[in-house]
Amino acid sequence: MAKKILEVKNLKKYFPLQTNFFGKTQSWVRAVDDVSIYIEEGKTLGIVGESGCGKTTLGRTILRLHEPTDGKIFFEGEDITHISKKELRKLRPQMQIIFQDPFSSLSPRMPVGEIIGEAVRFHKIVPKEEHKDYIFDVIRKCGLQTHYYERYPHEFSGGQRQRICIARALALNPRLVICDEPVSALDVSIQAQIINLLKDLQKDFGFSYMFISHDLSVVEHISDNVGVMYLGSVVESGPKEKIFANPMHPYTKALFSAVPVPDPNVKMNRIILKGDIPSPAHPPKGCKFHTRCKECMDICKEITPFFNEYEPGHFCACHLYAQNHQAINNYMILKEYLKGYFATPEKIEQIKALSDRKLVSYDSLAVKLFIIGDNVEMYIKGKGKDIIDFNKKYSPAEDAEEGNEEIANIRAEIVGERKLSRVPIKFTIDDENKLHAAKELIDLLMNANGFSKSANGEVTCTFTSSDDNERRSGSVMSIKPLIVDFELKARKEAKEAAEALKNKKD
Ligand SMILES: Nc1ncnc2c1ncn2[C@@H]1O[C@H](COP(=O)(O)OP(=O)(O)OP(=O)(O)O)[C@@H](O)[C@H]1O
Ligand code: SF4
Ligand SMILES: [Mg+2]
Repeated sequence: MAKKILEVKNLKKYFPLQTNFFGKTQSWVRAVDDVSIYIEEGKTLGIVGESGCGKTTLGRTILRLHEPTDGKIFFEGEDITHISKKELRKLRPQMQIIFQDPFSSLSPRMPVGEIIGEAVRFHKIVPKEEHKDYIFDVIRKCGLQTHYYERYPHEFSGGQRQRICIARALALNPRLVICDEPVSALDVSIQAQIINLLKDLQKDFGFSYMFISHDLSVVEHISDNVGVMYLGSVVESGPKEKIFANPMHPYTKALFSAVPVPDPNVKMNRIILKGDIPSPAHPPKGCKFHTRCKECMDICKEITPFFNEYEPGHFCACHLYAQNHQAINNYMILKEYLKGYFATPEKIEQIKALSDRKLVSYDSLAVKLFIIGDNVEMYIKGKGKDIIDFNKKYSPAEDAEEGNEEIANIRAEIVGERKLSRVPIKFTIDDENKLHAAKELIDLLMNANGFSKSANGEVTCTFTSSDDNERRSGSVMSIKPLIVDFELKARKEAKEAAEALKNKKD
């Protein structure tokens, strides 16, 4: 593989959307959400996706025109995610951007020579005495005439203006150029000329490009590799031939099915996407594409698929191809298992005896389940003594004698403060034995909390599922006996009835 000029790892850019009374941000637009891509030296990475999916924000964040929210950006192997403004200024000539609208990105009051030469002078790209010859040379290389030097942007056509923008970027000898829809505003015939100019310059000077476009035929023509974005995330990326000939992700398939085929004998099997693109401020949980995907499965609605490499350089984030089936199965089994608990009669009595204040702030039992690679991680709270007993049962010493090392591995790990009456613990499930042990651990801790699977139809527990704050892949379940709400309602009604009676008497 050629050297990577740019590598982006788990990059995020969230824009603040709503602030509360105290000025604290309450919700965010997740414009770029966990993107990992790379660009090889002298190659072009095409970025495609519907309007608003985050293409421009990704490009601008890579150039640090937006401050990244999280993740890492490496330029020529150097981590530039948090370098200072001064260091960034030194790096600027090497990382350039070309915008969609060549008119608004050119100052109307500056002649072409000055537009192209201003940054050349600032960054001291050539000695002063060679400046004018150098600019003439750049102007020629971009297919313009040297006498344009003195003229102003309004005197040019759209295609010529885009050539001026390219010349301005090229003059700084960049290593990476981010082209954000550089031909979308131009006529089709002019588009081809500009694309060919970019390709010729790449051949001559070895530039690397990130080429953003929603025009798939343009991307196919210019790119070596392609990344497909949906709602802030890259859902598939890889060599152009692989992505166009053998798309894996259902979104890529739908997007590419809309490209017109020039042969009238070939029937187009266009996949129509149902529903609107969701808001990046409230992206769907799990796979963000699940609300529009024809192949959606239960697991897609809660677990974010990993961005896996399925053949050299070809990555895709979709559960259809997932290899961690065992973890997904175990997750589903445990989630189902957590549902069938009832409050015991003793627990019901305890709840009924609670004061109004304690009842209102009743602390539900939270159980968190996450899929981390091939494992399921379960977080649950319990009494320290119960956990010690559980671990003792599977203690290495006892089992070692029986030669059962696998079972001997089973341990619940205390992850929180031991002083608390109920300590947070973590239990990792990576095989069949641990799945059984996990159910046993759940039983143990649920029973200790006054919940039982066989409480003979006494009041059941409600079960709500929500997102983890860090949006890890999984769910946070809150388990609460229904009697809490019944009792609250009964007390409220009793109070209202007593008040009504009092009012009547008065
Ligand atoms: N400065 C900003 N402040 C708040 N939200 C922003 C900002 N810039 C972009 N966004 C939001 O981020 C999301 C991604 O926008 P972006 O412009 O990156 O999309 P795009 O893929 O380039 O779209 P297009 O194809 O229309 O150019 C959008 O929902 C947009 O409204
Ligand atoms: S993970 Fe599921 S919902 Fe998402 S694209 Fe794949 S099949 Fe469709
Ligand atoms: Mg854009």
